[in-house]
Amino acid sequence: MTPDFTALARIHAEGFDRPWSASELERLAAMDGMILTIRPEAGEPVGFALLQSVLDEAEVLTLAVTRTARGHGRGRALLEAAESAARERGARRVFLDVSDRNRAGLALYRAAGFRETGRRRAYYSDGSDAILMEKTLPGLDASGRTA
Ligand SMILES: CC(C)(COP(=O)(O)OP(=O)(O)OC[C@H]1O[C@@H](n2cnc3c(N)ncnc32)[C@H](O)[C@@H]1OP(=O)(O)O)[C@@H](O)C(=O)NCCC(=O)NCCS
Repeated sequence: MTPDFTALARIHAEGFDRPWSASELERLAAMDGMILTIRPEAGEPVGFALLQSVLDEAEVLTLAVTRTARGHGRGRALLEAAESAARERGARRVFLDVSDRNRAGLALYRAAGFRETGRRRAYYSDGSDAILMEKTLPGLDASGRTA
C-alpha cells in the first residue's frame, strides 16, 4: 500500500523547524536503501522513521511521533522496528545526528543504546550543535534470528 505521505509530512512538520514536504518525503523514500517504518493506529500514521541503509551501515534520517501521541513508548517502538528492518537488510551499525537542544531525541537515543561519538558545532540552521551518535546492532544467526 502506498504510504500516506501527506500525513507523514504533517507529523514531520510538528517535530522539526524545517519540515519536509509530502513530495520530498515520497522522493526520498523511493531512493535506494531507504527504509520507511510507519506506526499506524486506527488506520492513521502516528509516527514514522526513515533510515538509509548502505552495505553494513544505516543512518537515521528522521524519526517523529505526532505531538499528541508522544510520551507513551511509540518513539522507542518505532526506533526498534526500524533497527530490525535495517538489520535484516544487512546493517550492523546505525548512526545519526541530533541537535544538542533536542532533549527528547537525545534521551530517546541514549535510552536505546546509542553512544555519542562526536559533535559538530553550529551544524543546524538554528545554531545548535549536532551530536553524532552510533549503535552497533546485534548480529543475526543463519535463520535470521538475533544471535
Ligand atoms: C523524539 C520523539 C520521537 C520521541 O517520541 P515518543 O513517542 O515521545 O518517545 P517514547 O515515549 O518512546 O520515549 C522513549 C524514551 O525517550 C525519552 N524521552 C522521550 N520524550 C522525552 C522528553 N520529552 N523528555 C525527556 N526524555 C524523553 C525517555 O528516555 C523515554 O523513555 P522512558 O519513557 O522510559 O523514560 C518525539 O518527541 C518527537 O517526535 N520529537 C520531534 C522529532 C524529533 O526530535 N525526532 C528525533 C530527532 S530525529
